Amino acid sequence: MAVTQKISALLAKVQNDFIGLDTVYTLADGTKSQRIYLDSTASTLMMGKVFDLVEKFLDHYANSHSLLHFSAKISTNQYQWAHERVLSFLGADLDTYTCFFTGSGTTAGINRLARVFRDFRPDKDIALVSVMEHHSNDLPHRKHTGKVIHIKLDNYDSGQPGCLSLSDLEENLNRFKDRINYVAITGISNVTGIINPIYDIAELAHKYGALVLIDGAQTAAHMPVKMSGHNNPNRNIDAFVFSGHKTYAPGSPGVVVCRKDILLAIEPEEVGGGMVEDVYINNYIIKNYFPDREEAGTPNIPGAIALATAIEIMDHIGMEEIYEYEEILVNRAMERMLDIQDIMIYGEKDLTKCTRAGSISFNINGMHHGLTAAVLNDYFNIAVRNECFCAHPYVKELILDDMLEAVSELSESEIETKYKLLAGMVRASFGLYNTMDDVDALITALKIISINKEKYSNHYHVDDYGNYVHNTFQMDSDNHFSIPNMLIEYLTKM
Ligand SMILES: Cc1ncc(COP(=O)(O)O)c(C=O)c1O
Repeated sequence: MAVTQKISALLAKVQNDFIGLDTVYTLADGTKSQRIYLDSTASTLMMGKVFDLVEKFLDHYANSHSLLHFSAKISTNQYQWAHERVLSFLGADLDTYTCFFTGSGTTAGINRLARVFRDFRPDKDIALVSVMEHHSNDLPHRKHTGKVIHIKLDNYDSGQPGCLSLSDLEENLNRFKDRINYVAITGISNVTGIINPIYDIAELAHKYGALVLIDGAQTAAHMPVKMSGHNNPNRNIDAFVFSGHKTYAPGSPGVVVCRKDILLAIEPEEVGGGMVEDVYINNYIIKNYFPDREEAGTPNIPGAIALATAIEIMDHIGMEEIYEYEEILVNRAMERMLDIQDIMIYGEKDLTKCTRAGSISFNINGMHHGLTAAVLNDYFNIAVRNECFCAHPYVKELILDDMLEAVSELSESEIETKYKLLAGMVRASFGLYNTMDDVDALITALKIISINKEKYSNHYHVDDYGNYVHNTFQMDSDNHFSIPNMLIEYLTKM
C-alpha cells in the first residue's frame, strides 16, 4: 500500500511536470508500461517549465558577446541573471564569490579548479580527497596537483564505511601542514548517498591553512548549501562545483562558484574571445571583472538559463522541503530493502551515524549486478545503473567483505575472475519526481527477483563484453527512438 507524503502545493505541481514521466516501453513479457526512472544520480529528468521557458527564450537567442541589438540585450541579461541565480542558490555572497559555467558537467569545473589552485599556491603540492570520491574529484587532482592523499572513512577498519573520517583528515592536515594546498570532498556520495559534514571539513581544513573545494554534483539538487555567512568564517566554502544535467536541466553546463580573490591572483586557465579587454600582436589585457574573465568563448547560454530556471523553481519550493521529502523516500526505500533477506546494502546503514540522500547501492545475494539491473529494466521497466559508478576505489572498499568471503579458497587467477564478477553493484537513485509508488514498485520487483533468481538467470547469457543479454527479447522498434528516422519525412516530403 502506497504511503502518501504531505507536500506543498508547489512541490506537487512541479513534481508532476517533468518531461519523461509518462515514457512507455514494451517489456520482455510483451506488456507495455511506464518507465520508473531511478537513475537520477547519473542524470535527472528535465523540469517541464524549464523546457517551456527555454523554448520561449530561443525566440530571443543571440550571442551574449553581441551587445547592441534587442535580442543580444535580452540574451545577455538572462545569461547574467543565471550567474546571480546560482550564487544566491548556493548562499554565496556576491562580493566574495563569482560563478562561471564550464564544459559539460562537474568534471570540467573540477579540472579547472585543480589547475587554478595549483597556480594560486604553487609551493603547496598536496591535495586531500576522500576514498569515496567519484573519479572526477580524484583524477584531476592526481594529474594537476602533484600528490593526492586519500582520507579514510569512518568505520574504515570494521564493517561498512560511513562518512569521511574527521580524525584522519585532521591527522593528515597536521602531518603535511605546509604542503597541503586544498581539501576536495564530495558533499554526497554518488554510490551510497552518504552525506559528508562539509562545514566541519571546511572548518578543519581552514584551521590548517588549506582551501576547500566541494564536489557538489550530488549535493546541489538534494540539499540546501550555504557557502558563506557562517558565524565562524572558517566554515565557509572556497569553491563549489556542480552539474546542470543533475539538477533537472539536461543540456546545461557545469558550474563553478569560487572566491574571486583566488581567481584574480592568477591568469585565467582558459583564454580566448570574451575574456580580454584588448589584444595586440605582442600582448593582451585580460578583463578584471567576472564572470567574463573566466568565460573564454561563446558559452552555453540556453543551458545556463535552463539551469537557473530549474534552481529558481527549486528555491521557491525550498531546498529544506526538497531535502526532507527525499529523505523520507530514501530512508523508507532502504528500510524496506533491508527487510528483503537476500539484499545487501552498501555503506553505513545506521542513519544516526550518517544520513543519506539520493542514492542506495545494493546487490542481491548470488546475483551479478548486471543481471539484476537487466531484469529490473526488461521485466519491471525500472531504470537503474550498475557497475562501479566511476568510483572504483570506493566500490572495492564497500564490497571487500563479500569478495574476501567468496575468494578465500580460490587460486590467484580464479580470484581475478571472481573479482571481476563481483566488482560492482546496483544503484537505485531518486529525484524530486519520485514518489512512494516508485519505492513500492522497486521493492515489489526486488522481492520477486530475489525468489526467482534461477528463473531469471536462465533467460540471460553474457555477451563478449560481459553484458547480460536476454536470450529472446530485444528492445523492439517500439522502444527505439531515432532522430534520423524521424527526420526522413521532413527531409523528403516537400
Ligand atoms: C559525485 C560526483 N562527482 C562528479 C561527477 C561528474 O559529473 P559530470 O559527469 O557532470 O562531469 C559525478 C557524476 O556522476 C558525481 O556523481
